[in-house]
Amino acid sequence: MIVNELPASLVPYKIDAGEGLRYAFGSHLATMIARPEGLGQQVSGVILSGAKGAAFPLHSHAATHEAIFVVDGVIALSLAGKTYQLTPGDYVNIPPGTPHGYEYADHRGKMLTWRFGGNAADGYARVGKPFAGIVYPERSEPIDWTVLDSSVDTELLGSAGVMDGAVAAKLTTAPDGPVPFVLAASEGERMIAGDQVYTLLGNQGHSSGAFIALLTEGPIGYPIPRHQHEKVTELFYCLNGEMQMYAGDGYLALEPGDFLHVPPKTPHSFQLKKHDTRFIGFVTPGHFEPFFRYLCVPFEGYRYPLVPPPFRFDRVIQHLSELDLTLLERPGGPPPQAG
Ligand SMILES: [Fe+2]
Repeated sequence: MIVNELPASLVPYKIDAGEGLRYAFGSHLATMIARPEGLGQQVSGVILSGAKGAAFPLHSHAATHEAIFVVDGVIALSLAGKTYQLTPGDYVNIPPGTPHGYEYADHRGKMLTWRFGGNAADGYARVGKPFAGIVYPERSEPIDWTVLDSSVDTELLGSAGVMDGAVAAKLTTAPDGPVPFVLAASEGERMIAGDQVYTLLGNQGHSSGAFIALLTEGPIGYPIPRHQHEKVTELFYCLNGEMQMYAGDGYLALEPGDFLHVPPKTPHSFQLKKHDTRFIGFVTPGHFEPFFRYLCVPFEGYRYPLVPPPFRFDRVIQHLSELDLTLLERPGGPPPQAG
């Protein structure tokens, strides 16, 4: 397993919290954890942070679909003409063509961002310089935004402040289709599988099939059956607690801030190793969504219940032929071995 390097070809790899390709611009820090070379597709993952008052001006992407999950801090976001105050757990869907910009409103703003289908993430290497620090630099060097020329899928729309206007309400239910929205923390389409709550933040319709964004949380649990996919890529980012992953040919631990890339044809599984472990997975392409609907049942609650409903792996088995899923061990664990 490659650790703490962004590979140049399609392989599984892990990036520990804070590691990755770091670029500083002004008092912003962009930490790239995934790029197209290592993912075998036009997908990039970047952790963004910055000092209070640091702002990324209003812009849009012609071809890039962007998604933001707020990890820490408070961030003012301008999205499609409305202003939002983002706090941890909020999710933002930004289809191509949507005007957006942001400003860090406190000293701890941190966002996990994913970009699908365009090269907008290339802008960080243009506008920033490689940076050895682990956190944003506290300085106020001017930023030359004009280097974002037409070869980067980021069009600046002017330098209007993003803090203007009344603060709009964050949604508790996402609208249908590829439209911009801000979903408040813990909201979204909730489902439960055994004692794990799955919250669909972005479904495949929200990104025209590009990906789904899914939160998973639960108490210490059993490993899910080891399996692999032909075409589906999974991008795991641990938020709380600890998970044990099997990926490729061995086990590894994911702790908060750690990232794991599981490309197609890679045997994998996960197990929650501490109570109240939570992770966000981006799964691409989005057509793997029905798997979770077979595995889970709809759930009205927000936190996993004391007595969980039955684990419906039987429904996954029933629909196995229509899913990009090859089971490599028996659900419930390997059969008992003689001797
Ligand atoms: Fe999987």
